[in-house]
Amino acid sequence: MKKLTILDLKELKDRGEKITMLTAYDYPTARILDSCGVEILLVGDSVGSVLAGYDNTLPVTMDEIIYHCRAVARGRAYALLVADMPFLSYQISLEEAKRNAGRMIKEGFAEAVKIEGGINMAGVIRAICDIDIPVMGHVGLTPQSIHRLGGYKIQGREQAQRKKLLADARAVEEAGAFAVVLEVMDASLAREITAQLTIPTIGIGAGVHCDGQVLVINDLLGLSGEFRPKFVKRYAHLEPVIQKTVKDYISEVKAGIFPDEQHSFYVGEH
Ligand code: KIV
Repeated sequence: MKKLTILDLKELKDRGEKITMLTAYDYPTARILDSCGVEILLVGDSVGSVLAGYDNTLPVTMDEIIYHCRAVARGRAYALLVADMPFLSYQISLEEAKRNAGRMIKEGFAEAVKIEGGINMAGVIRAICDIDIPVMGHVGLTPQSIHRLGGYKIQGREQAQRKKLLADARAVEEAGAFAVVLEVMDASLAREITAQLTIPTIGIGAGVHCDGQVLVINDLLGLSGEFRPKFVKRYAHLEPVIQKTVKDYISEVKAGIFPDEQHSFYVGEH
């Protein structure tokens, strides 16, 4: 398959073909997802909660995203690789934002970066686009603003908030973003935003009318324990599969069944 670029995503939107995006944090997962034909791999700052067990994404650092991005980059041949800009890597100054976005490309081998925020981040998005780094926007429930938002709540309930979110999405497009994530918002608002923007919208908890969908890979595979928000569909339940496999291993080792001759080396007459 020919390597996918940001230009192909716009074509998919124009053709009405849905775009798929999944998070990936390591080489083997990236290799498998890429081989299935997923269009975008996101090294999300969700790595903090999903892999490191933090309560939220705020502690995640540039170096951590770069480390995971390098691993994912080696596993993908087709998908577009997007790196999440972690909290405080782009909010302090345009200079820092550009340098950190550049590190994602130079050290992480990413092809684009993702930035949370709307009107308030338009200047940052423009500055990064101006140095030829493609930017994916992210509006609605922005997890890096969790303390201001007061929790993981559905966005776009009131009319004033709906107008603000629409203006945010427009500002992201006008600033030069090539796509925008719409997270946990009223589905009719996501439909309106999708209709008004020329760039693709990628929804998570934003209903079926978005141009594409994104999920956290561990949620989709059923590897997130009890965490199960309404918008997550578990396509598999791997946790019990892994538990059974590990229990089989434990009991075979305890019983002296593993390793058997097939899995042992006997060289010479010892
Ligand atoms: O960090 C992440 O995984 C994300 C997606 C959920 C969009 O931002």
